Amino acid sequence: MAAGLRFDEAQGQMQTATVDGQTVTYRAFMGISYVTMPVDPIQQLNVFVPEAYFHGGSVNGYQRVTAPIFMPNTVGGYLPGPADFPGNPDAFSRGETIIQALQRGNVVVSAGVRGRTQNDGQGQNTGKAPAFIVDMKAAVRYVKFNAGRLPGNPERIITNGTSAGGATSALMGASGNADFFEMRLQELGAALATDDVFAVSAYCPIHNLEHADAAYEWQFNGITQWHRQRIRVDGGRKICTPVHGQLTPQEQQLSPQLKAAFVPYLNRLALKDAAGNPLSLGRDGEGSFKQLILRVLKDSAQQALNAGQDVTKYAGVVVQGKTVTRIDWPQYLRAITRMKGVPAFDALDLNSPEADLFGNRLTAARHFTPFAQAHTTVPAQLADADLVAAVNPLTYLLKKQSQVARHWRIRHGAADRDTAFAIPMILATKLQNQGYDVDFAMPWATPHSGDYDLPALFDWIDELCQ
Ligand code: DHB
Repeated sequence: MAAGLRFDEAQGQMQTATVDGQTVTYRAFMGISYVTMPVDPIQQLNVFVPEAYFHGGSVNGYQRVTAPIFMPNTVGGYLPGPADFPGNPDAFSRGETIIQALQRGNVVVSAGVRGRTQNDGQGQNTGKAPAFIVDMKAAVRYVKFNAGRLPGNPERIITNGTSAGGATSALMGASGNADFFEMRLQELGAALATDDVFAVSAYCPIHNLEHADAAYEWQFNGITQWHRQRIRVDGGRKICTPVHGQLTPQEQQLSPQLKAAFVPYLNRLALKDAAGNPLSLGRDGEGSFKQLILRVLKDSAQQALNAGQDVTKYAGVVVQGKTVTRIDWPQYLRAITRMKGVPAFDALDLNSPEADLFGNRLTAARHFTPFAQAHTTVPAQLADADLVAAVNPLTYLLKKQSQVARHWRIRHGAADRDTAFAIPMILATKLQNQGYDVDFAMPWATPHSGDYDLPALFDWIDELCQ
């Protein structure tokens, strides 16, 4: 079985790319199956290696056996995330990230993973949860199985992704070697190796779906207009059209119920700030946890101000002289606006990416929270709570059943409303409280997006690996 998963160094093609006038020469290994019994052609990966590593050379202080292995994914919207390559014209591609990683001496492995819309052509779905994470794990197992054959240090794997891809990255970091996935990995013929990783880079991870609806209403309750972009892909290009709406009376009635449900959840987490003080919320939704979010937003605005930006043009930012003294929460939120209805993720008519994610082989979409199931407007089933928990990174931080990555770099833009600020804040804080190395920031005026600070990302990797 495993012989079919041996990495073959002879299959590479030399290629070049140019960044900022500098030429990067690398070897590309394309379309490698990372499992012996794939269920979809997307289950392939591409490997890119700085050419110098085949000649005993070094790049950015790394050699063939010491180079970090950077594993970006192209998952978005919990859709299929195909393997990527430099110069890929497709809308999902982040070819530029691959080139910059190579220029900084990383070995890059881009794995294609299944997503919620895939089927076998005969009416059976093949990409519902947990397919995305099973595939990513199988790809990591392939890399580790090929230790010594595949260039790079398999003890220095860094996953990277944005949004649903950020959640994929975070879940990789939290769920290393967790039992839940073992049978599924064996069914695919995954390589016999572990799947824990060294470090996580996650941009705006849309995760903790179980509690994201409540967190969203804790943040946006009282704001009844929503504004978002409808995105469609046409000829490989993304086309965005703005759409606006008003919460229905039913949504306005459900919002305070969800808001109230967030408080006991947050308090059960028993989070602490850097000084060891408890982070909590009162029944009115106010408290030290909210103050922490406001402090991080204020610091972010201060950094932007220090860098010469005019932060006074953003509603809710209070400035005295050269100091951001306060963020006015209601004003700030009204200005960034609500993006989603109620519930934000587990839509009552099952018409959301997340309900679609939790479908199964024969069911297109299912609810994944008891709340939405209780208020459903269409005939619906509730996904198994074990499954829902298994794709939530927080699960593994609360029950010690996995190998957790030591290093985390989490970014969530200060203008991102795809999920509540509380969601990344909970992840970053829980990790910190448990002694993991966490670099968390909410970059100012930054919407839902990723890979916008690649030089800093690769500096962070260098600090960990050089
Ligand atoms: C993504 C964005 C969302 O708002 C969401 O609910 C799920 C995924 C994304 O961009 O991947």
